[in-house]
Amino acid sequence: MSTLVIEGSQWGDEGKGKITDYFAQQADVVVRSQGGNNAGHTITINNEKYALRSIPSGIFNPHTKNILANGMVINPKQLLEELHGLEARGIKDYQLYISNRAHIVLPYHEILDGAYEEYKGSSKVGTTKRGIGPCYSDKANRIGIRIGNFIDEEDFKASLEDALKIKNLELKMLGLATFDVDTIFNEYKEYAKEIKKYVCDTSLLIEEEIEKCSKVLFEGAQGAMLCLDHGTYPYVTSSSPAAAAVPVNCGIAPSYIKDVLGICKAYTTRVGEGPFPTEIDSDVASYIRERGHEYGTVTKRPRRIGWLDAVGLKYARRVSGINYLALMLLDVLSGLDEIKICCGYSLDGKLIDYVPATIKELNKVKPVYISMKGWMEDISNVKSFEELPENAKIYVRKIEELTNTKVVLISVGPNRTQTIELEKIF
Ligand code: GDP
Ligand code: IMO
Ligand code: MG
Repeated sequence: MSTLVIEGSQWGDEGKGKITDYFAQQADVVVRSQGGNNAGHTITINNEKYALRSIPSGIFNPHTKNILANGMVINPKQLLEELHGLEARGIKDYQLYISNRAHIVLPYHEILDGAYEEYKGSSKVGTTKRGIGPCYSDKANRIGIRIGNFIDEEDFKASLEDALKIKNLELKMLGLATFDVDTIFNEYKEYAKEIKKYVCDTSLLIEEEIEKCSKVLFEGAQGAMLCLDHGTYPYVTSSSPAAAAVPVNCGIAPSYIKDVLGICKAYTTRVGEGPFPTEIDSDVASYIRERGHEYGTVTKRPRRIGWLDAVGLKYARRVSGINYLALMLLDVLSGLDEIKICCGYSLDGKLIDYVPATIKELNKVKPVYISMKGWMEDISNVKSFEELPENAKIYVRKIEELTNTKVVLISVGPNRTQTIELEKIF
């Protein structure tokens, strides 16, 4: 069995897209199992940059089956725009499959996402405003619309009428304009016609592929610290990026998951509100932000910057079952005299090595750092671990020691070729 979960181990944007694309060249199947177009996965192929939102990062390989599984929330209009955008750039030979059990994001979800944020005021989450939270809420509240209903015109109209009875009340209560069934129906039934040919029971397909020993990648979106259950709630997304959620989000047995690769930046970033113990706001943060082009793929917001947090990584390892690490953007740290790693938190004067559950505690923790010597050399063309500057090697080994996890990949630039594989795991 050759299955690998690619999982964000921080607050998202760790480089999951790059690593999925790297492995996808040899993969038979790439599955996105949760989230939606709140994700922004950047892939650079021969200096051509692609930003994927809902489409799996295996789309560039004609032999790879790309699956949007049942745990996803899919905006049909945006999905088609994304697909047409790729086709316009010459990506025309692809295989795409969409679960009939995935939920769809409709315009009222996006409006409500923005409205909740506004009403929350200073305690807003800082969402991507793509309607992700409201769509998952409707799913849990059993007033969501699934792809299977969407592609049947009669069923879609009836489901939309039912949903709007409730959603329009909610919109009115918030002082917002209501939606008309026919307006949404007439626009979206056209998207449904185009999407229909990709729709199937993806649970059967994934199982069939795993059973015949195909190489299957599960491309996570977001990251462990944004997990609805284990992240810095309520400053999280509305799904679980954890590997443990993959079987439910794909309709497969947990025993089908072999390895979990935690994707981890050589430092930390966060976009959106919420606690961030190792955040720095100094010239060093600006240096890292500019060198790493740390601006959101989806919303273009400047990403908040901080030192690597080994406490957070150990936590991600535990709650997500990560057994290997890919260390990304190591090239960005070249030129710093000193690099810090957080190896513990001080909470009310007590040293702890876990991530507390409440925002009140998280806002109080003070990171305890170890200081490492930096390196000056440009490492973006380095091809092996041995070629790295001595201090970069020591930095990598320290991360392994602090997290008790093996680093199997080091990334030194956005291109496919700027990847150092230390151990073959897929
Ligand atoms: P994802 O959401 O986890 O797929 O990550 P994003 O694509 O949102 O953000 C990662 C950013 O870092 C993208 O702009 C990538 O092109 C870029 N990137 C990935 N790996 C490296 C690397 O090793 N070095 C540098 N300099 N950039 C990288
Ligand atoms: P990828 O897959 C980084 C963040 C938002 C916000 C919170 C909730 O590219 O790593 P949402 O719109 O999901 O309700 O927003 O989660 N967020 C991400 N941050 N990378 C992402 O995806 C994210 N997806 C959501 O900024 O703080
Ligand atoms: Mg991203």
